[in-house]
Amino acid sequence: MVTTDISQENSGHRYLSNQNSSSPNQVLLPLTAKVNSSDCLEIGGCDLSKLVEQFGSPLYILDEETLRTSCREYRDSFKKYYSGESQVIYASKAWSCLAVCRIIDSEGLGFDVVSGGELYTTLQAGVKSDRIYFHGNNKSTEELKYALDCGCTIIVDNWLELQTLSAIVSESEFQNARIMLRLTPGIECHTHEYIRTGHLDSKFGFDPNQLEEVFNYLTQKPQINCIGLHAHIGSQIFEQQPHQDLAGVLVEWLKTSQAYNLPIEELNVGGGLGIRYTEADDPPTIEEWVKAVGKAVESACHQYQLPLPKLIAEPGRSLIGSACVTAYTIGSRKEIPELRTYISVDGGMSDNPRPITYQSLYRAVVANRMSAPLTEKITVAGKHCESGDVLIKDALLPLVEPGDILVVLSTGAYNYSMASNYNRIGRPAAVLVHQGEANLILKRETYQDLLVQDRLPERLISLE
Ligand code: LLP
Repeated sequence: MVTTDISQENSGHRYLSNQNSSSPNQVLLPLTAKVNSSDCLEIGGCDLSKLVEQFGSPLYILDEETLRTSCREYRDSFKKYYSGESQVIYASKAWSCLAVCRIIDSEGLGFDVVSGGELYTTLQAGVKSDRIYFHGNNKSTEELKYALDCGCTIIVDNWLELQTLSAIVSESEFQNARIMLRLTPGIECHTHEYIRTGHLDSKFGFDPNQLEEVFNYLTQKPQINCIGLHAHIGSQIFEQQPHQDLAGVLVEWLKTSQAYNLPIEELNVGGGLGIRYTEADDPPTIEEWVKAVGKAVESACHQYQLPLPKLIAEPGRSLIGSACVTAYTIGSRKEIPELRTYISVDGGMSDNPRPITYQSLYRAVVANRMSAPLTEKITVAGKHCESGDVLIKDALLPLVEPGDILVVLSTGAYNYSMASNYNRIGRPAAVLVHQGEANLILKRETYQDLLVQDRLPERLISLE
């Protein structure tokens, strides 16, 4: 009989295991996950069925301790394995909202933002602009002015942006722009093609063949301070080698920059470390990743006899991915004899578009039946009017009833941030859980919220 168990490893990480199957058969859970005496899953000291009673479903449940622990693991590993200065910045596209920014800021991390909206959110959360880096392959003039105005570092992606920035700086009150250059490193890695960015055929970054031309241009623009170089090779990556190769390439570019007398002293290796969504995923730990990258930069600098740059990494998924779960209420059931059984939940592709977009796989448990035997192979469908709205195909679950709470694991990254109002379904609420306390950090969208931006032209109002 297969049952679900929560086990703890020496590292302190908690895993969900399907007992009696061959290992490795474990999926990461939030660190504080446990099963209480009512056989219910608890996270951050809060019983998930009670959270759903109180806040409704679907519900994003974010565990503060897990999030803080990954921040510290990144920060401490850089201190341990890299002798130069370092700064970890959170790729806020993974999940941007005030509470998340505030927690991460309080752990001393910086922020990568990719739009005026993310920049605004981060600033409103109280983050100081000297720790904010502004990305994007098509920033508007308005966004560039906003970024200059608040004094964050702009990661320049292309010629048009560099020229626009130069025009803004020379025509206006902005005296100085602090920038980094993003380049396409030409490094292939194994991940879904939509989230691969390091290969040459990518919309992001300067072509490295133009590096010297860009450096030359910058030498004639004293108001633009180019302080560093950036590259990012993709997301949900399990291999170490492409990141080590990237470190080498960045240091080579740094070497090239020496001839131009530019103030370049930071290297940003991007993000990309994967997480374990299912037992088939086997990413390195944060510590292993940082060690590999830090050592690769050190050895390349040694080889080129360069002083160690300030090293920046900008992880998103590996900071927040396994800190959150999504709770749904189970509703209808459809059995197609000898083919498939579907259960439907009260959310789906509008709160988690990753399965339909990237064919991403997830694991789930039934929060109110944690020790029930896993006897059913069931397909978990969402409630949207689209056949592809399936969250998990062939999930191994206990016998469930309408009203049971299905919890999809590892939904912290790119779920809320990619959520939509498809079918005019409001985005879920999110709660932050910590030591038995649950605080609302995102309010559930109401029907009224859905109409906030709607305008009805006068002439339509009077239509019969
Ligand atoms: N830096 C840059 C420049 C990026 O473009 C990204 C992610 C990151 C850092 C953070 O990467 P991470 O550590 O999270 O892998 N929506 C997709 C992921 C898109 C990633 C976009 N860029 C998904 O749901 O898998």
